[in-house]
Amino acid sequence: MPLLDRRLVFVTGKGGVGKTSVAAALALLAARQGRSVLVCEMDAKGSLAAAFDAPPLSFQPRLVEPQLWAMAMNTEDSLREYLRLFVRVPFIGRIGPLARTFDFVADAAPGVKEILAVGKLCHEVRERNYDLVVVDAEATGHIVAQVGAPKVIRDLVNVGLVREQTDWMLELLQDPGTTGVAIVTTPEEMPVTETTELVARLPVETGVDATVLIANRVLPALFDRRQTAVVDGLDRAHRLLVDAAGRGVDAVVDAARITEARRRVGAGHLARLQQVCPDLPMLIVPELFTRATGRRVVELVADALADELDIVVDDGRAGTRPGGSA
Ligand SMILES: Nc1ncnc2c1ncn2[C@@H]1O[C@H](COP(=O)(O)OP(=O)(O)OP(=O)(O)O)[C@@H](O)[C@H]1O
Ligand SMILES: [Mg+2]
Repeated sequence: MPLLDRRLVFVTGKGGVGKTSVAAALALLAARQGRSVLVCEMDAKGSLAAAFDAPPLSFQPRLVEPQLWAMAMNTEDSLREYLRLFVRVPFIGRIGPLARTFDFVADAAPGVKEILAVGKLCHEVRERNYDLVVVDAEATGHIVAQVGAPKVIRDLVNVGLVREQTDWMLELLQDPGTTGVAIVTTPEEMPVTETTELVARLPVETGVDATVLIANRVLPALFDRRQTAVVDGLDRAHRLLVDAAGRGVDAVVDAARITEARRRVGAGHLARLQQVCPDLPMLIVPELFTRATGRRVVELVADALADELDIVVDDGRAGTRPGGSA
């Protein structure tokens, strides 16, 4: 089933690998397909706003593109909304003492802050306020606590009201047709290792499977097979080249050798990843070689992902090609 046909997509991965850029790009693609999309930054760093060249985001979603709303998660606001909607506590404006109690409880009990965050996302999905909710989620270290919060709390307090609340969330989260988890990695040792660990931990600890791997910043193959043989032979040809063209040749030869070596090492890490996770599709986003930031990067990443997801963008609108996968 196409990734963006789901209702809730978490984007995670090791720190700095491109989670925010990919989450913003996926949200943009879905919005361009005509879906109403909410994209939510979970860690309040402000990078999601920067990705859209937009001013800082808040808990109240704001339109940043046609069909695309963006928000920043805030567990205290989420608690306030929950109390207003479901417990009908009046005068929510004045929750000063309550907020302090909440802080105390949230710090003491595992999963409380996390369930308020993930609960808000599930609520948006259940109410069908948007066709798709994309989550710029926490890094690999914390995502298990986030997605797994309803399960942890249910296992901890398996009674009445709490069970009702955790059960509907678990139903949404554990349905692979509703919820997807995209793990972003770069072609490097540590991000790939964290990815393989997360793929193994997710289903065990949260009941939610990883859906797709996104290899970001992949170096293009600069040389075809025959040219690669030339690069490999450069050592032998080096002396001749220097004799023929002077010392400037050194820098060119080194650049070719280093670039090709880096690409091969990266490709090796990705091959290992595919070997460990043979059932997960892997989407490739190339290294962009640009000084651009924000919106421009997101658009380029979106273009690459559109290719990988078989989404054709036509006159700024997109549709899914028949047979599109991942
Ligand atoms: N394919 C790419 N090519 C070049 N630069 C990229 C690419 N993808 C992301 N970047 C850049 O890498 C930097 C980190 O990206 P991003 O903020 O999306 O990562 P992140 O995983 O969300 O980081 P954090 O863990 O800090 O939240 C940004 O400056 C972004 O513009
Ligand atoms: Mg980020």
